Amino acid sequence: MNGKGGTGKSSICAFLIAHIIENALGSVLAIDADPNSCLPESLGVKEPETIVGTCDEISKNLSKIPAGITKDRFIEMRVQEAVNEAKGFDLLVMGRPEGPGCYCYVNNLLRGIVGDIAKGYDFVIIDNAAGMEHISRRTTAELNKLLIVSDYSIPGVRSARRIYDLARQLGIKFSGAYLVVNKVTGPVEPLAKEIGRTGLGVAGTVPYDEGMVDWNISNKPIFDFHNETIRGEIANIFNNLMR
Ligand SMILES: Nc1ncnc2c1ncn2[C@@H]1O[C@H](COP(=O)(O)OP(=O)(O)OP(=O)(O)O)[C@@H](O)[C@H]1O
Ligand SMILES: [Mg+2]
Repeated sequence: MNGKGGTGKSSICAFLIAHIIENALGSVLAIDADPNSCLPESLGVKEPETIVGTCDEISKNLSKIPAGITKDRFIEMRVQEAVNEAKGFDLLVMGRPEGPGCYCYVNNLLRGIVGDIAKGYDFVIIDNAAGMEHISRRTTAELNKLLIVSDYSIPGVRSARRIYDLARQLGIKFSGAYLVVNKVTGPVEPLAKEIGRTGLGVAGTVPYDEGMVDWNISNKPIFDFHNETIRGEIANIFNNLMR
């Protein structure tokens, strides 16, 4: 999942995860790769273990690393244990590094381990930070589907196009790339030309919903948010991705 800040990446990730779980479509690993994300909370997971937390703990206790194992290998092993087991799905959270240079390190780590851990799941859904950071670092060098979220605006769609262009220029491999237009408050037609320029297939459009505002202040997990229109659109997006 990628896209400009605030377009709804995390919300759509959470809805897709809820859709898969509630319809028993397969096992899910959710990866929160955004250091400033709320994905765990929206999935009802409070104070999850994080990769950063695991790394910090190891760095503070270097003497506990078993002989014959490098620090990096040990971190890799322990990060597998940082997978949070939640109700119906697993969750891996990057966390918030402190200090310069840490982001690079954790991003590299994430790239190295995601492939290994991912193999055990039917679905792996990665909620990325806004912008091009993850793409340009090639944290997720191999994806099955790239989903770019735009808001209901021409700048939003242009931003999606830049993200898609960059992903292709960097040679990131994916079997399909899609656009989701979120927070739609009118006809999509005025955006059609701009959408056409992106070269992305439209996986779905999600209406702006006032209920989301209420849900935001309710502090409840997404599983408790039942909005037939949004749920219907999410099912549509899921089906388009699976096609
Ligand atoms: N369809 C919608 N209707 C109304 N509000 C929405 C909709 N989708 C998302 N929002 C709201 O928009 C805000 C941003 O959503 P979200 O956090 O999912 O975006 P994001 O792209 O993950 O943001 P960030 O770039 O900060 O990670 C939230 O308050 C969310 O509840
Ligand atoms: Mg987010």
